[in-house]
Amino acid sequence: MRVDCTVNGEPRVADDVWEGESLLYVLRERLGLPGSKNACEQGECGSCSVYLDGTLVCACLVAAGQARGAEVVTVEGLAGRGPAVEGLAGEGLPRGGPGTDRLHPVQAAFLEAGAVQCGFCTPGLLIATHDLLRRDPNPSDARIREALAGNLCRCTGYQKILDAVHLAATRLQASASDPSDPSDPSDPSPSGPAASGGRPAPSRPGTVEDRP
Ligand code: FES
Ligand code: FES
Repeated sequence: MRVDCTVNGEPRVADDVWEGESLLYVLRERLGLPGSKNACEQGECGSCSVYLDGTLVCACLVAAGQARGAEVVTVEGLAGRGPAVEGLAGEGLPRGGPGTDRLHPVQAAFLEAGAVQCGFCTPGLLIATHDLLRRDPNPSDARIREALAGNLCRCTGYQKILDAVHLAATRLQASASDPSDPSDPSDPSPSGPAASGGRPAPSRPGTVEDRP
């Protein structure tokens, strides 16, 4: 099966895709975009979160065939939307963003707040935070905990993640009121119908909701 879709603004094609393959597998193994992580493959951890036609989904739960003709935005697609970050140009940065020395303000805030550790959960948290802030530019702690309830971090508590979300919110609001600021707080993809794999926001034990 051929899967052709738009990923991070570019047309991409994957051939010989097995009907049972997930969108996550296609992104990571066929399209060379390893930013979305495979940490549970069961829709439990949120590490594989991407936008599919503007809807936040767990890519591990989306059949690759469902992405045919769709617009996908991965964590790599967030990069390049903010101000240049010194020392970040070049090797090691994900491709997909128009500028390899630029991070999205959400990404920069996670770095600055010390919310990035092993990095397994981080891509999903970044996408989920981006999705939250486009809907609620100034979320409360409770709102953040609810929005990130589907994202598990195995490394530590969530205080620095909360700090990062508040920092990103502040930065994005400032950039929205400053027309000379190159940061782009807008939705990277069009809104679309809910897709299979769409993330619920349940109250689950062991998530950001009930950890320090
Ligand atoms: S890898 Fe998809 S939710 Fe965990
Ligand atoms: S930083 Fe390691 S799982 Fe969150």
